[in-house]
Amino acid sequence: MKQSVKLIVGNWKMHGLSAALVEAQALNDALRDGAASARVGVCPPATLIDRMRSVLADGPVELGGQDCHASPSGAFTGSISAEMLADAGAGLVILGHSERRTAFGETDAEVASKVEAAIAAGLEPIVCVGESLAQREAGEALAVVTAQVRGSLPMGLSDHPFAVAYEPVWAIGTGLTPTTTQIAEAHAAIRAAIIERLGQGASKAPILYGGSVKPDNAGEILAAPEVGGALVGGASLKAADFLGIIRAA
Ligand code: PGA
Repeated sequence: MKQSVKLIVGNWKMHGLSAALVEAQALNDALRDGAASARVGVCPPATLIDRMRSVLADGPVELGGQDCHASPSGAFTGSISAEMLADAGAGLVILGHSERRTAFGETDAEVASKVEAAIAAGLEPIVCVGESLAQREAGEALAVVTAQVRGSLPMGLSDHPFAVAYEPVWAIGTGLTPTTTQIAEAHAAIRAAIIERLGQGASKAPILYGGSVKPDNAGEILAAPEVGGALVGGASLKAADFLGIIRAA
């Protein structure tokens, strides 16, 4: 059976000044000849999106934001709308990352509103779900991700391209990763919840794995059942590391 193309997305989080554009340039140079068999995206801080658009102009690397406001515009000091991200050059947007859910108290309902805003602006959302260590140890991991999918994916998503990222909170930035069996179980539960919520039309939406993906574990993780790609934090900041993951796809 032919494998569909993996989606590998870098989440730079709050890292990256102007000097970091050389990494995007190096990534673009390495992938411009069509060498990658994966679809590749980078989500830098919003301040770099417009300039990164120029750097990536002649290559295959896509651009994204890391969050957006649920409204297209308004009196929301400090916030950035989906429309603004699209205007700056983004095609993707990460929503509901556990750092937003934990540090900024985002609920499933708020994430769902942001997803609505993203699709209205023509962005492709990557909606993150994942259990904490305490939830996994309590045997609740699959129930948690199922509930997050139900609450965070609005019904209107069924006609639009989107991805879900399974990111166990305890694996993010820690160097710890679930076993491929645990990843496969979580992805199967997420797939079932997506189909239950949006119907069979959503059966092809990629489910990415995120949390301590590195060049040396990417091959094994990406080969696990129902893993449609990776959401990569720390290892996406340097082109050489990120390329190691992309080449494993
Ligand atoms: P990490 O982060 O790869 O640094 O663990 C992943 C993420 O938070 O998306």
